[in-house]
Amino acid sequence: MAKRLFIKTYGCQMNVYDSGRMADLLAPLGYRLADAADDADMVILNTCHIREKAAEKVYSELGRLKPLKAARARRGGEMVIAVAGCVAQAEGAEIMRRAPVVDMVFGPQSYHRLPEMVARATRAVAKTGAGPGRGILDIDFPAEAKFDHLPAPTATGVSAFLTVQEGCDKFCTFCVVPYTRGAEYSRPADAVIAEARRLVEGGAREVMLLGQNVNAYHGSLAEGGEIGLGALVRRLAEIPGLARIRYTTSHPADVDEELIAAHRDVPQLMPFLHLPVQSGSDRVLAAMNRRHDADAYRRLIERLRAARPDMAFSSDFIVGFPGESDADFAATLRLVREIGFAQAFSFKYSPRPGTPAAALEGQIADEVKSERLSELQALLAAQQRAFNAACVGRSLPVLFERAGRHAGQLVGRSPYLQAVHAAAEADAIGTIRAVRITGIASNSLSGALDGASAAASAS
Ligand code: SAH
Ligand code: SF4
Ligand code: F3S
Repeated sequence: MAKRLFIKTYGCQMNVYDSGRMADLLAPLGYRLADAADDADMVILNTCHIREKAAEKVYSELGRLKPLKAARARRGGEMVIAVAGCVAQAEGAEIMRRAPVVDMVFGPQSYHRLPEMVARATRAVAKTGAGPGRGILDIDFPAEAKFDHLPAPTATGVSAFLTVQEGCDKFCTFCVVPYTRGAEYSRPADAVIAEARRLVEGGAREVMLLGQNVNAYHGSLAEGGEIGLGALVRRLAEIPGLARIRYTTSHPADVDEELIAAHRDVPQLMPFLHLPVQSGSDRVLAAMNRRHDADAYRRLIERLRAARPDMAFSSDFIVGFPGESDADFAATLRLVREIGFAQAFSFKYSPRPGTPAAALEGQIADEVKSERLSELQALLAAQQRAFNAACVGRSLPVLFERAGRHAGQLVGRSPYLQAVHAAAEADAIGTIRAVRITGIASNSLSGALDGASAAASAS
């Protein structure tokens, strides 16, 4: 009988990719994805440790799962609860102590061993009659390459994630990622290209290349040597049927000429780049160990705009980093005004255990962080509205991904990653159509199929 598997995913797109791979790994063992935890045979929380709130959410979710697990036990069933992802990696033993409801804890580098862990857990139940596999903790950084042990991805939408790089060697002083994901690793280029081909055969028209530091990519080639992200993009662009290529997240210090040239030359590479800057103050950037200053970031944006004039940018910002003065914060606002972002994420600095910045003097009071965050967010929201408003009246090529909330309506993405709603037949899903933008909502655009050019640009 099919077993019910519920996976709840927190954090970044890499966790979304990993959750998909976990489902693929468990499918041969009879697990089928369910959309709720009730009555599940196995629940996996794929967690994020990036900010304090992200980790706390996991413990409250475990609190909600406890009665569900007990109810299932009363009916004579078992619910295996696993914590995966970055909180598991960072706080594995503590989770076991703090939340006895948890049966299994494993990190982002060991989930390929999931079938083995599940087998061990089931054997434990058969032998002892005790709770399933209680106490399995697997948070090593194993020497074998995880990706070699993963099955080919199955579920594919119009837009598919593809992890090409993992881990980070940058050690920004605020960030847990180098500790939770380990050292930087690039998958061999041939494996990436093969996976992209399979995704396209499965119906994907767009791939989003993922990595914590995706533009540090340097994948080996079967014929010898290595290629960077720009060259990888060129090779992927040769796959018939792959209409759009995107990548995230990039580090400013790793944007090279080759990548800029790919933006100039490769039409499938979308003119939208998420390029986190974190701060506009050189003093703060140095204390963050970001390896670039504000002017270097400005010059980089200029070079990218010179290569691809319609390039739009998104970024991440942290306010209230230890020691950030009013003048430092003003420098961030100045940088934002100069560049003009199409979209952005901004956060209050959250001290993370074990990171150098958590031990710095000059931690900023929460009220100050809140004030700075709302001022920055107001500016960024205004820029996003202005960017969206400038699209009204234009005809944009939209890749339709799925049905919208209203009957007869589809949702897709513009080249600039804006969600676009338009009335269209269901068979337009997976095609690129010209849409004349007529309106903007808070986070999306709406429009109508552009009759004349729709046929021309459909593919
Ligand atoms: N690899 C990417 C982003 C990783 S995390 C990069 O190099 O930029 C995503 C974002 O979370 C970061 O860009 C940063 O803005 C934010 N972030 C990371 N650690 C944080 C912390 N301790 N407090 C607040 N925000 C943080
Ligand atoms: Fe974290 Fe910095 Fe690495 Fe990004 S580059 S993952 S912010 S350490
Ligand atoms: Fe979070 Fe880990 Fe991603 S900490 S942002 S899930 S790499």
